[in-house]
Amino acid sequence: MNITTAKFEISNTDVNKCPATTRHEYAFIGRSNVGKSSLINMLTGRKGLAMTSSTPGKTTLINHFLINEDWYIVDLPGYGYAQRGKQMQAQIKRIIEEYILQRAQMTCLFVLIDSRHNPQKIDMEFIEWLGENGVPFAIVFTKLDKMSSTAGKIQTRKYLDTLREQWEELPPVFYTSSSDGRGRKELLDYIEELNKLPLVDEE
Ligand code: GTP
Ligand code: MG
Repeated sequence: MNITTAKFEISNTDVNKCPATTRHEYAFIGRSNVGKSSLINMLTGRKGLAMTSSTPGKTTLINHFLINEDWYIVDLPGYGYAQRGKQMQAQIKRIIEEYILQRAQMTCLFVLIDSRHNPQKIDMEFIEWLGENGVPFAIVFTKLDKMSSTAGKIQTRKYLDTLREQWEELPPVFYTSSSDGRGRKELLDYIEELNKLPLVDEE
């Protein structure tokens, strides 16, 4: 799929104020600093579209970007950033959970995992919570440019083996780097396929 236009539309703390549309949307989630905003910029080919930072906790709102005047990418705040303070952490958790559970037009949640790290409890618990709530999701390994291809294979396999302890069948898995662009075509092709499906009606 070609990205012809990508426009920031609105930021929100409240899922009820998100665009009232019947377009497909795809949200990006994961621990703070995993590379959500960078991946969105890589996918859209617009470097400054989503705000990125080397300091964790940059994205604190639900951000909607309209792509090709047709579907949305949503940049979400990261979870599990302890330095935020209790109150802010609780607020972010509420924003994320309400968005995920209430946004009927969210066709797939891309769960980003830093490929360099061993499986983390917080990610496993989050993925388990998605399963309990029947949320459609896919796994996206990030920052693969930071490792040799052998190390990347070993780390991601370890991760998927841990997931298999919880899941009989694995969700779709993508291998990406925002620095060198790998995984872009695969992710956009997947989105293109999902865009063809009818949207689940809102209640
Ligand atoms: P929050 O909004 O704070 O939750 O973070 P985020 O998940 O949106 O991460 P962001 O995209 O801001 O990236 C965090 C840092 O990782 C930045 O310094 C990016 O340049 C770097 N980064 C992200 N993706 C990649 C990647 O694929 N390769 C490399 N080498 N660096 C990356
Ligand atoms: Mg971000």
